[in-house]
Amino acid sequence: MKVDLKGRSAVVTGGSRGIGFAIAEALAGAGAAVAIGARTAEDVERAARDLTERHAGATVIGVRCDVRSREDCEALIERAAAELGGIDILVNNAGIGRFATVADMSVEDWDAVIETNLNSLFYCSHAALPHLKKRGTSWIINIGSLAGKNAFPRGAAYNASKFGLIGFSEALMQEVRHDGVRVSYIMPGSVATEFSHPSGSGTTGEEWKVGAEDIAQIVMDLLATPERTLPSRIEVRPSRPK
Ligand SMILES: NC(=O)c1ccc[n+]([C@@H]2O[C@H](COP(=O)([O-])OP(=O)(O)OC[C@H]3O[C@@H](n4cnc5c(N)ncnc54)[C@H](OP(=O)(O)O)[C@@H]3O)[C@@H](O)[C@H]2O)c1
Repeated sequence: MKVDLKGRSAVVTGGSRGIGFAIAEALAGAGAAVAIGARTAEDVERAARDLTERHAGATVIGVRCDVRSREDCEALIERAAAELGGIDILVNNAGIGRFATVADMSVEDWDAVIETNLNSLFYCSHAALPHLKKRGTSWIINIGSLAGKNAFPRGAAYNASKFGLIGFSEALMQEVRHDGVRVSYIMPGSVATEFSHPSGSGTTGEEWKVGAEDIAQIVMDLLATPERTLPSRIEVRPSRPK
């Protein structure tokens, strides 16, 4: 399915690399103006420049934004709305993993995971909803995880954040669908990104995993869905896991 997003604007959190970058690239390639946010200013600015160069004529702005901060989320949304002429699509993608038993997990790690993966959904959605509701038809797409339904030892913080994402998304979906805002969430299994390699060791030998661009393709298919229809929950897994 091909979708034409000319005249549309999108915000992608965690858009400097991995799944968020792939989604931002697909959106820009389809003609949308895009704002990407991430904590590391030089990375997010470089990513925005890369996308502008790769897609002639595309408008992509990079905004330093830590989604753990309500003020940063509000500033990202307001800047996108002002510079891109409103907001049609919000992709809540930024997320981290910290894995330890509950007995061993530090309070700092617990807070980092819950604030990044769960509180941010509220901060960004709350700030974006007035803009999204003005559009007649718009989307919030949350990037969850199969860890949002399959709990595992050492996963309490990550599992709790992604189980929480599902509850948040389903409640919000029922609140705003009559305002023309469709809320969906995607639950990937293993995706070949640096998520599991914080040391930057790369993704060599991970061809069996889902590609970040495959998640982006799913986002584009969602956006192409006829207005009367709302695919709300999408599970994605490697076809041939290791
Ligand atoms: N990779 C997988 O196997 C997998 C599977 C299922 C679900 N997911 C989910 O997919 C999403 C993206 O994961 P990914 O694999 O693309 O991860 P990634 O490659 O590590 O990229 C994460 C992105 O989020 C940004 N980020 C992290 N903390 C942030 C914060 N506090 N505020 C703003 N931006 C922040 C990072 O930039 P900075 O570090 O500069 O902030 C980066 O742009 C996450 O929600 C993750 O839980 C991933």
